[in-house]
Amino acid sequence: MIAPITETDFKQLDQLAKKYPERRSALLPMLHYVQSVQGQISPAGISACANVLDLTPAEVAAVATFYTMFKRFPLGKHHIGVCTNSLCAILGGDELWRELSETLGVGHDETTEDRMFTLERIECQAACTMAPVLTVNWEFFDNMTPNKVRELIEKLKSGAPVQSTRGAVITSIADTERVLAGFNDGKSEEGEAIDDAMLAGLQVAKARGMRAPRGEGF
Ligand code: FES
Repeated sequence: MIAPITETDFKQLDQLAKKYPERRSALLPMLHYVQSVQGQISPAGISACANVLDLTPAEVAAVATFYTMFKRFPLGKHHIGVCTNSLCAILGGDELWRELSETLGVGHDETTEDRMFTLERIECQAACTMAPVLTVNWEFFDNMTPNKVRELIEKLKSGAPVQSTRGAVITSIADTERVLAGFNDGKSEEGEAIDDAMLAGLQVAKARGMRAPRGEGF
């Protein structure tokens, strides 16, 4: 059953709208909020956003249906994104996808019957130095293998504590959606921000005195 949008939710949505000089600029954060509460974007969630922003439901639906992060079906507790763009695919992303799809018994943009997992093929996450990567609730799992994927799923199923390879503790996609809406969970310092693999190209460029060519007008 989809959670209703309550008076408290309307207040929270209004609070988000007030953060922007133009209230309608808050629409994306508001949709993330709705998704955190309802586990999807329902017609009631669309109406609530329209009501708070003085827009038509059609205007809100046009935005909600454009961005693939907003789902019109129930999300599981955990959203798993597998990067299957070129570099990840070549380095094992396709294998990871097959492993996950077979283990969970679902395909792209589908949720398991027990509502634990939603699986999605995702585009390049700008983490190619760590390929193949996947994300759980948009937290990175770098340099993955089918064995690591099996262990990860078992741990998530059992409720054992799971940390992303960059340190963040995995909670739920609902928690992530609330943060994406703009509510601070106080965990922005959790995990590592950067590492040597990410900086390798920059270090080589510096060592060789390489510079980006200056374009016209700069
Ligand atoms: S291709 Fe997967 S992170 Fe870039």
